[in-house]
Order: sequence, then structure tokens, then C-alpha cells
Amino acid sequence: MAEPHSLLGPVLGGLLGFLGAIGAAIIAYFLARQDRVQQMDEERITLLFKGPPALWTIRTITTEDGLSCRDVSKVDPEELVERLHDAHLTEGGKQLRKLTTTSHLTPYGSRYASEVEVPKYRLPEEGAPADTVYQLIRDELDLDGRPNLNLASFVGTYMEPNATQLMTENLSKNLADNDEYPAMMAIHERCISILAQLWGVNKGEKAIGSATTGSSEAIHLGGLAMKRRWQEHRRAKGLGTSRPNIIMGANAQVALEKFARYFEVEARILPVSKESNYRLDPELVKKNIDENTIGVFVILGSTYTGHYEPVEEISKILDEYQEQTGIDIPIHVDGASGGFVAPFTYAGAGGPKWNFELPRVKSINTSGHKYGLVYAGVGWIIWRDESYLPQHLIFELHYLGGTEKSFALNFSRPGAQIIVQYYNLIHLGFKGYHEIMENCLTNARLLSKSLEATGWRRR
Ligand SMILES: Cc1ncc(COP(=O)(O)O)c(C=O)c1O
Repeated sequence: MAEPHSLLGPVLGGLLGFLGAIGAAIIAYFLARQDRVQQMDEERITLLFKGPPALWTIRTITTEDGLSCRDVSKVDPEELVERLHDAHLTEGGKQLRKLTTTSHLTPYGSRYASEVEVPKYRLPEEGAPADTVYQLIRDELDLDGRPNLNLASFVGTYMEPNATQLMTENLSKNLADNDEYPAMMAIHERCISILAQLWGVNKGEKAIGSATTGSSEAIHLGGLAMKRRWQEHRRAKGLGTSRPNIIMGANAQVALEKFARYFEVEARILPVSKESNYRLDPELVKKNIDENTIGVFVILGSTYTGHYEPVEEISKILDEYQEQTGIDIPIHVDGASGGFVAPFTYAGAGGPKWNFELPRVKSINTSGHKYGLVYAGVGWIIWRDESYLPQHLIFELHYLGGTEKSFALNFSRPGAQIIVQYYNLIHLGFKGYHEIMENCLTNARLLSKSLEATGWRRR
């Protein structure tokens, strides 16, 4: 004969299975009636618990044939927890709980775990102990996805331990403070020099640039410089400056559209097609430029597909246009992703040109925090020569001792990312980046081929 306790499992299992089947039937019935729902109204019903009664908001849905069912999807967990917080406590229990003070043995033994409220949306009158708050926040963040499993994070999610240590050691440095952190500023300049050379700046040109918070800020600066140069040029000729426009493909990332909207430039967003490989279509560029075009944003590494847009082809179209009309339209290359991929993977492959080798490319941006392989918070903008950054955009500041030149949108910003960008550049060198980027491309191709092989695609 079976021992009594060994029956418990099957009995419980059967009971749970039965309850599950009833639940499934109710859900199926509810779903089946969804399309016939006529009117909905809210009611509050009282559920009796052991202890004080609790209110639970439930929607009652009435169907066209007069049947009504209850939709429990509106259960508000915040309200439930608040109402039921003390439901199980006797008067004696409540008194006992009040006696509990802060424990430093474990954050969970503290009164902040049950008695004292740690508010979510307003500033508490008094704070709570560091270990408890740390644990609370850490536990809450467990609900987040894991960055290293996130294939759509838009930023690097891994750095080597040495880089992470360098970052931690320099977390409190402000990039705005040139005078106090000269070594960091020297590193910043070195990064700009390395990137300018990597992107093919010519001898005799004086490249100028800056770290930014990401590619978005860098793109805005690149666009702004184009707008100012266009304005200066037009004003010098006595021409109007009220209707600037900028060209980009419909695949453009939001940062490019934001530039147009925030800086009052008409965005000429050209449709992309299968024929154009879902990239900016050179034929459409030809048809949409005019004397008010401040520049063309050309993307190296489209957000949607990773495609490089045809910078060289578009550059030639703009050359021809200049020959015919005398109007000189610059290109800004958005290399948010490709700026750190193309230099290493195109190496020696003789592909089309995309960088400062083309005279028409006046500025390039990239995200240090994408394929620059740094944690979130760094982008770069480089102009091929300082003459392409209008003086009007450069501020001279004297707050912090010496004279400081500023031409970024932000003043204070983290410096640690710049330090570890330099770490990566020096540590990996050309070969290291080359290996990593080739590996990324191999993985990307494998993934896309495998997805195709599943057969789950539109024909
Ligand atoms: C093509 C392109 N441009 C600009 C951006 C914006 O870059 P960031 O996130 O560094 O601001 C992205 C981001 O995904 C992008 O893919």
C-alpha cells in the first residue's frame, strides 16, 4: 500500500490540473466572445479575505446577447499589494513588526522590507540604509533583460576587465574640465587624430573633432555645421536663407530626422525600395537637390539592414551637379555603425570609397559605443579640416582657469568612455579590430542565411 504522504503529489497534481483546465476553458470562452463585445463598464467588487476586506477592480463585459463575463486583466498589482499589505497581521503581529529596526545582518531583516514604505514616485522624507536600498534596486533590475543577450541594444555590451577597471577608476572625471584633467584631454585629442587618419584625412588638412555622447549628438553637430556654412555662403552672395533642406533616405535613423526638426531644416526623406537595396537612391538624390540643399546625409551601416549607402556614387552625382550649376553640396557620412567596421573590413579589398578620400565628404560621425566597442556614452564627430567647422559654432570658455574651446552640444559629460576608447584603439590596434569586425560580419551572414533557411520570409 502506498504511504499516505506519497499520495499527496498525485492528488495535488490532479487538483491543479483540474483547476488549470477550468481556467483555460474560461479564457477560451472569453476570447471567443471578444468580437461580440458590445459594452463595457467598470465595477468594483469586494473579495473577502481572512482579515480586512480588500477591493479588487474588475471589468465586467456585456456581450450583445446579454451575457456578461469578467475581465481580470485590469488587476492593479500596486493596489493589491497596498491593500493586502497588513491583511494577515493580528494586532499583536503589527506591534511586533513595529519593533523591528534596521538590520545590518541582511537587508531583508530590516523594517524597510515590510514596515516602512520606500516610495517609488516621490522623494521619501527620510532615506533608508545603503545596503537595503542597494539590494532593493538590484533585485528590481533583475526584471531587465541581460545586456549580453540583447541583440538590439545599439551599444557594446562587453568590455575587457582591464578596460572596465580603467573606466571605474575614472568615472568621476568630467570631460568639460580641460584644465583639471590635461592627461584625459590629451587622450581625447589622440583618439581624434587616430580616427581622422583611419578615415583617410589628407596630408595638409587640419582635422578637427570632438567626442560626443553618441552618434546622435555628433550628427546634429555635423548637420549644424553644414547649415551654418550654407547660410554664410548664401548671405555673402545676398541670397535668402529661409528655406534650407537636407537629403536623407527613408531608412534614416531617428537622429537624422531629429536634426532636421530641431534645427529647422526641411527633411527631404527619399523613399527606399528593393531596387535601391533599401538605401538612399542616387537617382532620387539627383531629382531632389537644389540651391537650398545644405547637404546630404549618407549612412554607412543602415540601422535596419546594415547596408552601406553608395557614398561614392552620390558624391559623383553632386560633382556633376556642381559642374552644371556651380552649387557645392557637401556630404556628411553617418558611420554610427560602419565608421568602425568599414576601415577594417574594406582594408585592401578595393571597394567603393566612402570616407575623406572623397573631397565631398566633409564630416563623419561614429558611435564609439557601437563597433568602437565601448560601453554606452561615447560618439565621435570629425571634420576633415577646421575650415568646415564654422567659427560661429566654437565657444571660448574661461570658467575653469585656462581658455577652453567648446563646440559640442553638451558641457559636462563623462570622460571615462574616452579613456577606454583609447584603451581599445591601443590594445586592439588595426589587427585586433580587423579580426573582431570580420568575425562580426561572418556571424551576421551566418545568422541571415540561417534565418532565410527557416523558410519564414515573405516571397
Ligand atoms: C545609422 C545610425 N545613425 C545614428 C544612430 C544613433 O546613434 P547613437 O545611438 O549613438 O546616438 C544609430 C543608432 O542605432 C544608427 O544606427
